[in-house]
Amino acid sequence: MTEIMRGFDPDALRKDFPILARRIGGRPLAYLDNAATTQKPRQVLEAMREFYEQRNANVHRAVHTLSHEATLAYEAAHQRVAEFIGASPEEIIFTRNATEALNLVAYAWGLWELREGDEVLLTVMEHHSNLVPWLALRRLKGISLKFIDVDDRGRLRLEELTRLLSSRTRLVGCIYASNVLGTINPVEEIIAAAHRIGALVLVDGAQAVPHIPVDVRGLDCDFLAASGHKMLGPTGTGFLYAKRELLEEMEPFLYGGDMIETVTLEGATWNRLPWKFEAGTANIAGGIGLAAAVDYLEGLGMEAVYDHERRLLEFAWERLAKVEGIRLYGPAPDEAPRLGIISFNLEGVHPHDLAMVLDSEGIAIRSGHHCAQPLMARLGMEFAARASFYIYNTEEEVERLAAGVEEAKAAFRVRS
Ligand SMILES: Cc1ncc(COP(=O)(O)O)c(C=O)c1O
Repeated sequence: MTEIMRGFDPDALRKDFPILARRIGGRPLAYLDNAATTQKPRQVLEAMREFYEQRNANVHRAVHTLSHEATLAYEAAHQRVAEFIGASPEEIIFTRNATEALNLVAYAWGLWELREGDEVLLTVMEHHSNLVPWLALRRLKGISLKFIDVDDRGRLRLEELTRLLSSRTRLVGCIYASNVLGTINPVEEIIAAAHRIGALVLVDGAQAVPHIPVDVRGLDCDFLAASGHKMLGPTGTGFLYAKRELLEEMEPFLYGGDMIETVTLEGATWNRLPWKFEAGTANIAGGIGLAAAVDYLEGLGMEAVYDHERRLLEFAWERLAKVEGIRLYGPAPDEAPRLGIISFNLEGVHPHDLAMVLDSEGIAIRSGHHCAQPLMARLGMEFAARASFYIYNTEEEVERLAAGVEEAKAAFRVRS
């Protein structure tokens, strides 16, 4: 009831997601692994099917009708994604995922711009995809990496920022919302501080963009990477936002067809933005599906999306905290802004075992290191279980999760 009043009714919109009708182990599926990838509504599937059935052709190449229609649809998809985050369409580069968008910055900017002794400042809570490319550049270019630490509860130690920024800092890379803790970092403050000393800022928005309103102009970030597939879009989609003046200056990422203007045996000139950064045949249907996902989210309203998740988070936190022997990571929902992501460990039960038990109840959670091993080590753990919520999750599913965790606890206590 309250859910309807606050914006949308998750029970009603579940009908848009065919997969949610599945039963796993005889129980209705409770999909709580949304930080990894989300489910796709009919509207996204339909947009892709319509493209393949009615318009499928390559873009930017031929003069025939299908190619023209495919081109219009693919370019409109850039426009939709741009509007969603307050950018211009030529500043949106479609990629396979957020990882590719982050690598694009490392390859097309870092590889050419960074010199020995330059510094890149990251946080210890980065996802591996915004850490490993910079580790590679450290080996290749002799740059040095510095890291903003977290406190024991996993909150970013912003007081360290001024000390860590220096005249050698060229780039600050920061995860907007942690995929382990769900905490939303104060990226505005980080961006302002970095800009004061002339450094660029790369925001990893893979977890933030699907869950909270994001406005790149308001943030004033230089780069922002996101995953289309974590925001109802098809797998194989993601994007990079970058300020136009940077994209104009930067070298391409991949070389080949569609990204050039002219080619001679002596050299090549580059296509206009954003196509300079989209070499080869694109994931056209994927881009069209992503635009349909944006339409869907905008129909709900991003404030309402966050509101819904926040309520589930508060309920889940309260409910899970009652389980004997559980450890919930990160600050409580009333202590810091958080997304609907909870990582936890249960005394005496390996998270993989817990995930298996829950799976037998139809509940899908993630267990592992969540591609953030430095953060996990900093918080004193190797693995954790993680439940992550989205628009179609309900309090009833959270209740089932808590009951499943309690059952697992009891089962493992009996066995040990
Ligand atoms: C914060 C964060 N950054 C980057 C990624 C990588 O995203 P993708 O799987 O789209 O490459 C993830 C995926 O979990 C993530 O959570």
